[in-house]
Amino acid sequence: MSSNDKDKPGGRNKPWSGRFGEPVTDLVKRFTASVAFDQRLAEFDIEGSVAHARMLHAVGILTKADLDAIENGLARILSEIRAGSFPWSIDFEDVHFNIEHRLTDLVGDAGKRLHTARSRNDQVATDVRLYLRASIDHVLTLAKGLQRTLLDLADEHTETIMPGYTHLQVAQPVSLGHHLMAYFEMFARDAQRLADCRRRVNKLPLGAAALAGTSFPIDRLMVAKELGFDGVCENSIDAVSDRDFAIEFCAAAALLMTHLSRFCEELVLWMSPRFGFIDIADRFCTGSSIMPQKKNPDVAELIRGKSGRVNGHLVALLTLMKSQPLAYNKDNQEDKEPLFDTVDTLMMSLAVFTEMLAGVKVNKEAMYEAARQGYATATDFADYLVKKGVPFREAHEAVAQAVRQAENRGCDLAGLKLAELQQFSPLITKDVFEALKLEGSLKSRSHIGGTAPARVKAAIAKARKSLA
Ligand code: ARG
Repeated sequence: MSSNDKDKPGGRNKPWSGRFGEPVTDLVKRFTASVAFDQRLAEFDIEGSVAHARMLHAVGILTKADLDAIENGLARILSEIRAGSFPWSIDFEDVHFNIEHRLTDLVGDAGKRLHTARSRNDQVATDVRLYLRASIDHVLTLAKGLQRTLLDLADEHTETIMPGYTHLQVAQPVSLGHHLMAYFEMFARDAQRLADCRRRVNKLPLGAAALAGTSFPIDRLMVAKELGFDGVCENSIDAVSDRDFAIEFCAAAALLMTHLSRFCEELVLWMSPRFGFIDIADRFCTGSSIMPQKKNPDVAELIRGKSGRVNGHLVALLTLMKSQPLAYNKDNQEDKEPLFDTVDTLMMSLAVFTEMLAGVKVNKEAMYEAARQGYATATDFADYLVKKGVPFREAHEAVAQAVRQAENRGCDLAGLKLAELQQFSPLITKDVFEALKLEGSLKSRSHIGGTAPARVKAAIAKARKSLA
């Protein structure tokens, strides 16, 4: 027992235990403690406490001597935490009590004065917001890295032709660069969502105290400024009770993971020998313990799998919140593990995916062959007829018959002879072969957002500018 507990009967060492006739049971103590996981908020808790103490001094509530003692004590605690020597204990429930208790041990009464005009309710909301703000910044940096890697790969492959799919059936030829840029767009929106969410995260709850505010003459704007918040939460009850900012983050994270997961699914398909479009570097694959020939794209599969747990965390937080009456309830302690795991999973997935993507080798010939074999230019053929005056529905029918004939002959559309093609329409002349060729098909789609290599180049250049 520390010196601080001696005046409490029965060794009841919680700051609130004065009101209680008996200590909590051991099981309840373990059940309610969050220190095992919320200690990761420690640095933010200290940062918040320093700002709070400085404000208390500025408005005349804390003496300079008390402020100095608190700042020195907290600095020492910070170094203990970083050194791994801080005496964490579930006797003190959570990160806030652990630090406050240690501070009081170190500096005496000044430590006990720190909690003036503050509650753990506004304290924890502040800590989580500081943590999440830093996490979002980190995620945004990682997302930018991924976007850059994507741009480099797309740039190399503006002229690489692959089959574009709908229903996973060959549809129309596209530039691989164009396909990759589709993901760039998704990740760009993900980054925008996160940046937008950050604006709502970056508001200060401190000053709300337990829920109703405080009778002390606090200066919330000073604390907000000190902690780099863009403003304060405008309503004290809302400030301590809502976690919509965390839910919003998880929603943005779930979407980002969904995009990564789709990409991973494609990499897995493309690496399968039936496609043979790409090879993923050995360092991102694993073998089988029984089948010597195997090289499995485990990293891609794991990211795809991990998207499930992030979706789960989003639902967990929504469910956590949906029936809580105002204001703070202990339910909110359950926000941390899903949130932390969402951040960890997202960061790891982004980092490993980016490295993996940078090491992908593209088999251009296999992609080209797949596009050639899939009658991918059938639409171009129909468009050709339309441009000669055939109504589109008739052109569609004529081309369908041509595809059947090519299928019977075992060749692609461009493999049919001019005379054969002319059976389907007398308007066909030898310039049809330009339309039937993959290169011609790509080149013709040269409007904004189209797959013409020159257009893709321009899209990449524009995207690069947006990242600068
Ligand atoms: N550990 C708590 C949490 O994570 C801190 C706030 C507790 N406040 C309270 N009045 N019980 O939410």
